[in-house]
Amino acid sequence: MPSSRSTLPSWQKLTEHQRAASGLHLRELFAGDAARYDKFSLSIDGMLLDYSKQLVTEETMRLLFALAGECGVEGRARRMFAGERINTTENRAALHIALRADRPVMLDGKDVTRGVKDTLAAMRRFAAGVHAGRIKGATGRAFTDVINIGIGGSDLGPRLACAALAPYANKRPRLHFVSNVDGAAISSVLEMLDPRTTLFVIASKTFTTQETLANSNTALAWLSKKLGGKAAAKHLCATTAEPARALEFGVPAGRVFPFWDWVGGRYSLWSAVGLPIALAVGMKAFEELLAGGRAMDAHFTGAPLARNLPVVLGLLEVWNATFRGATNRAVLPYDERLGLLPAYLQQLEMESCGKRVTREGQIVDYATAPVTWGSAGTDGQHAYFQLLHQGTQAVPAEFIACCRPHHRLRPQHDILLANFFAQTEALAFGSTGTDSRKLPPHRVFEGNRPTTSILLDELTPRALGALLALYEHKVFVQSAIWDVNAFDQWGVELGKQLAGRILPELRTGGPVSIHDNSTNGLIRHFKKQQRRKK
Ligand code: F6P
Repeated sequence: MPSSRSTLPSWQKLTEHQRAASGLHLRELFAGDAARYDKFSLSIDGMLLDYSKQLVTEETMRLLFALAGECGVEGRARRMFAGERINTTENRAALHIALRADRPVMLDGKDVTRGVKDTLAAMRRFAAGVHAGRIKGATGRAFTDVINIGIGGSDLGPRLACAALAPYANKRPRLHFVSNVDGAAISSVLEMLDPRTTLFVIASKTFTTQETLANSNTALAWLSKKLGGKAAAKHLCATTAEPARALEFGVPAGRVFPFWDWVGGRYSLWSAVGLPIALAVGMKAFEELLAGGRAMDAHFTGAPLARNLPVVLGLLEVWNATFRGATNRAVLPYDERLGLLPAYLQQLEMESCGKRVTREGQIVDYATAPVTWGSAGTDGQHAYFQLLHQGTQAVPAEFIACCRPHHRLRPQHDILLANFFAQTEALAFGSTGTDSRKLPPHRVFEGNRPTTSILLDELTPRALGALLALYEHKVFVQSAIWDVNAFDQWGVELGKQLAGRILPELRTGGPVSIHDNSTNGLIRHFKKQQRRKK
């Protein structure tokens, strides 16, 4: 049975409205309404969202808000904030908001923020100890370098935040991130570092992730070889929801920073998983990041739908992907320090909403999450922007920039922002020449390519927190409209299981015949090549 979403009155009206509005051009929409920017832009403290260059009218937005109402977006958000087990396939709450809350948040009758405060206090002590050189390695030397070993949500959030907040970072320790199980990743970091002054943070919610355990074993072997087996433990700490497994691995008791199963991996940078951020920029800045997330939570739960940034952003995604048929969407930060934002959002958006069954297990009869991709501007302009301007598909894009940079190269910032403004103008309005001088076809820009612009006043820890929470809630809004569970990720399981089955085949000499023709052939070729001497 197909999902009932597409039978909702507002859904059907939006489908008809899209058909009727399909001939609209942004040139006409702007020409016909001098107040379009005022009508279709919103701001909150430190952040401006302009969606006037999206292909929407007042009627589109009215219908989208009606859809949000019919899908119960506000009620669902209340249930999330109230600690209900909305992640039904894993029977868990989704309470990442409790990690940044300044009031009690109840789960099964208990205030979970008590444990959160304890972990924050432990992180504060630890970060201060490392910064002051009180917490040292086995040979008595202070830590100069920290390597975070983790993958997915145990990597992308802290890695992004450390890059984004580099201007706030202390000189020591330097942060490094290793995620890929490819030995090239960890070896290239280890060869630069001195084990006597290196601290490892093993980040894994489950403490069973193959990549993280393989890299952690390599780290432990490296430490043991250089410092001796007993000394190695002094160079380890862990952030995990499974403390017992970390202890069993050999992490000392006082060095395990816990979080809980109600924190999804991709929502975990606000938890102990944020320890590398605290080590890089200090606990005060980390708490500012939390405060930014908290401010966005208050906005999301308090602002009316029509003035609610995550709601508007989520509805625009639904409009483009589901009703206008966009199969992908670009995230284009015009800020070098936000260069990892597209990768971070790939996990957040595609792991949360890349789904084809509803919460009730029905197959959907509409498109859900588009493919998210992108990279820092202006680099992309000299690579794939050709397609964005003149390709056969219109890719909706989000442009993100900061008004004030941290560096002093003001003339370069002006150039960066001139490009930021120019690109959305070009994408929207294009250029066809004049009546008297028509452009040849290959020089025509049709325009009408929808974009949203987000301008931050400045990339402070607080602004970053607000931006990341904006996207978390945007994704939540989409999941409520698409009626999918935003908090599970069963789609990653099959590949993991098969890799587990194949690994022993690579390590033994027996015949390879249990797979399909192609997989058997590939494995046999690999083994044959491996046997050949270099
Ligand atoms: O395989 C996907 C995933 O489970 C992500 O959701 C998660 O962020 C990542 O793996 C890492 O998991 P863990 O933190 O348990 O090592």
